[in-house]
Amino acid sequence: MSASQTEPSKELLDESLQGSPTVVSGIPSNGKKLYLESYGCQMNFSDSEIVASILNEAGFSTTREEDEADLILLNTCAIRENAEQRVRTRLRQFKQAKKHRPQLVVGVLGCMAERLKESLLEQEKLVDLVVGPDAYRDIPNLVDQVQGGQKAVNVLLSREETYAEISPVRLDSNGVTAFISIMRGCDNMCSFCVVPFTRGRERSRDPESIVKEAHELFEAGYREVTLLGQNVDSYKWNIDNKGQIKNPDEPVVRFAQLMERVAQVNPDLRIRFSTSHPKDMTDDVLHVMAKHENICKYIHLPVQSGNSEVLKRMNRGYTRDWYMERIDSIRNIMPDCAISTDIIAGFCGETDEEHQDTLSLMEEVKYEMAYMFQYSERPRTLAQRKYENDVPDNVKSRRLQEIIALQQLHGANRTKEMVGRTYRVLVEGTSKKSADQYFGRTTHNTVIVFPKEDAKQGTYVNVYVHDCTKVTLLGNITQEPAEA
Ligand code: SAH
Ligand code: SF4
Ligand code: F3S
Repeated sequence: MSASQTEPSKELLDESLQGSPTVVSGIPSNGKKLYLESYGCQMNFSDSEIVASILNEAGFSTTREEDEADLILLNTCAIRENAEQRVRTRLRQFKQAKKHRPQLVVGVLGCMAERLKESLLEQEKLVDLVVGPDAYRDIPNLVDQVQGGQKAVNVLLSREETYAEISPVRLDSNGVTAFISIMRGCDNMCSFCVVPFTRGRERSRDPESIVKEAHELFEAGYREVTLLGQNVDSYKWNIDNKGQIKNPDEPVVRFAQLMERVAQVNPDLRIRFSTSHPKDMTDDVLHVMAKHENICKYIHLPVQSGNSEVLKRMNRGYTRDWYMERIDSIRNIMPDCAISTDIIAGFCGETDEEHQDTLSLMEEVKYEMAYMFQYSERPRTLAQRKYENDVPDNVKSRRLQEIIALQQLHGANRTKEMVGRTYRVLVEGTSKKSADQYFGRTTHNTVIVFPKEDAKQGTYVNVYVHDCTKVTLLGNITQEPAEA
């Protein structure tokens, strides 16, 4: 289950979500076609659905074929240097395409757009349009501007924008699982992280609009929603940043209450969420999870490092002991909850001993799954200004390999423990490898593949696990009751 991935986005990306955009029909067209490609985290994928919706309203239809597009947009990630390299390579390919199609408009959206701003237009002359994450409503105007012969940029960040009332166009949808953004931005300032610079200040979305979206998804046949935020535990509504209630006549809504309201939409709507922050995750969230069967027993709780000194340099706001206390709380309240994490190898000043602490923490927790990265220095971050990026590449890479090897062992053991159990599984779609098999996920977010029999996509079935690979469970539909 472990993997070293270049992009955190792959977190919940699987057979159901990969690929390029779908054609959306039924909306008055201007005859123009949009090709949209997304990189980075789930929030970026969710944002792309908002962008598609905005451009749909402006008459564009989406296409999976870049060759027939009038407008190509890349929704980009800036989290590590290699994420940006991938986008640059892609932009060079589009520049070639533009030689034969001078009318083609190419734009960069998202975090790389926000980080590099106008300089993206100047560098290598690859793009016509640069739009930051809070300026998507302006895209139709900006496209007009480009068609009028000018380059266009809008990278203004906002303290209010949540795109709350925009109904996302579900791209590449399996019609069963969907993302719902519950907040934007981040106020945490972890020293390694570029997100606060690319996404701006944290703001929460109106809970009514979130619950409404969940209802609409359920009505449309969806059976699982993932609530998204950089730090869902700091979701708050009707409280200002100083903790004061804004409107005494209205209820205060924190993450636990929000999740409960979404869980009450329908018992057949499963709830997931990402990402939890160890410094902010409270027991009331865990109690709400335990209380509602339709909230999946799975928590992604990024640790980053197992050493308290490194965590301090990372400005994470917790120590190793604090983190372990949170793990104990999860285990006490939900003994059968899966836990995954993110780990960074080779952060500034990391000694071999400090690295060993990460390995020993992994031994203590035994994560189901982890995303593991080498530290990549990012411009403007606290770490870049304050600390030296002094762990040599070969040491970073050796440490990362050790982390990956250990995680592979733990992940494989965890998967093996699931053999012989029966799980309630939401049927998400046909397995990529075999047309007569479905795939779905257990409450613990483990992918399971099983013969289709008479089951229908978007329904729940009980599946007995008879075998496994390192990361995937193999099963059969059964009438026996599920254990989880
Ligand atoms: N908001 C989430 C993380 C979002 S970024 C949280 O706080 O947990 C996803 C992951 O990318 C992070 O958890 C971290 O492990 C990794 N990451 C972020 N910046 C990085 C950098 N400069 N170098 C390497 N990995 C990084
Ligand atoms: Fe980045 Fe930290 Fe915010 Fe996560 S919590 S997005 S790691 S600053
Ligand atoms: Fe990347 Fe931006 Fe997400 S930097 S990880 S796309 S918030």
